[in-house]
Amino acid sequence: MDQPLFTVDETLCRRDGLCAAACPASLVRQDAPDALPYPLPGKAEHCIRCGHCVAICPTGALRHSLLPLEDFPLIDRKKTLPPAALAEHLKTRRSIRTFREEAVPQETFAAILDTVRYAPTGHNRQEVQWTILDGRRAVHEFLMRVNEWMRSEVKARTPFSRAMSLAGAVRAVDKGKDVVTRDAPHAVFAHVPDEGVTPMTDAIIATTWFEIVAHAHGVGTCFAGYLMFALEHKPELARCLGIPEGRTVPAALLVGTPKYRYRRMVPRDEPKAVFLPGLAGGEE
Ligand SMILES: Cc1cc2nc3c(=O)[nH]c(=O)nc-3n(C[C@H](O)[C@H](O)[C@H](O)COP(=O)(O)O)c2cc1C
Ligand code: SF4
Repeated sequence: MDQPLFTVDETLCRRDGLCAAACPASLVRQDAPDALPYPLPGKAEHCIRCGHCVAICPTGALRHSLLPLEDFPLIDRKKTLPPAALAEHLKTRRSIRTFREEAVPQETFAAILDTVRYAPTGHNRQEVQWTILDGRRAVHEFLMRVNEWMRSEVKARTPFSRAMSLAGAVRAVDKGKDVVTRDAPHAVFAHVPDEGVTPMTDAIIATTWFEIVAHAHGVGTCFAGYLMFALEHKPELARCLGIPEGRTVPAALLVGTPKYRYRRMVPRDEPKAVFLPGLAGGEE
């Protein structure tokens, strides 16, 4: 017989129903308030391995066949950030466009990605992967490919090249002023399968997490719009990054150690949000 999706230690289980309440796929059943939870028979393939059933149990009674309990460290509330500290961190993040020449150590990238892998993904697919151009030379080589693509867009007078003023960017790069990759020592690309649940959104979320976590490590980042346009309009460019066909690159960052330090935060517009006590009308 197949292994059950999870087992519950009846000596530890408090029959509190938390695991059943937390499972997004309704795979945890509890037939009565004092009954032991059990996995919905024949539906194990619907488990998205989110870990909620294990993580919410106060006594460690639930053992998941795909997710060992050792991978569920206890939460230390003293280590979680108070809102003011998190706000300070987010508000002091800036898009960095001037970098020191030296590379960011690979261990720092590893530490950043070790946190970023916890970013949410649709159906918990966790399919975002990363390619990191390592060193100015590699970034510059890719810049040259992107500049040729931009030049071809300008020559063909595509509406996109006009909308994005690509002619100016090409002129600047040709003169040695790098307005595209900003002489960064790294360009980081998030890539996902072409098909999936929410691959594009997952990549954007993960890249946003990357920016935030990098900032905590003293590493500067800036979304690399030109590189993202180039990869969107000429997906074959991904091949020279070693990214295989069947994968899309929805997001790219320039990464490096900031050359200068900001002294102040910056102003931003007030949030615009509405609370709707009912539907606003429109189509049924
Ligand atoms: C783009 C996106 C769409 C999602 N849509 C849903 C949804 O419709 N319903 C839902 O229950 N969870 C949804 N989720 C949450 C994911 O299932 C969840 O992030 C994933 O299972 C990992 O769990 P965690 O966020 O608790 O780490 C979505 C997540 C993302 C990133
Ligand atoms: S890992 Fe998530 S989806 Fe799977 S049984 Fe537990 S709570 Fe449900």
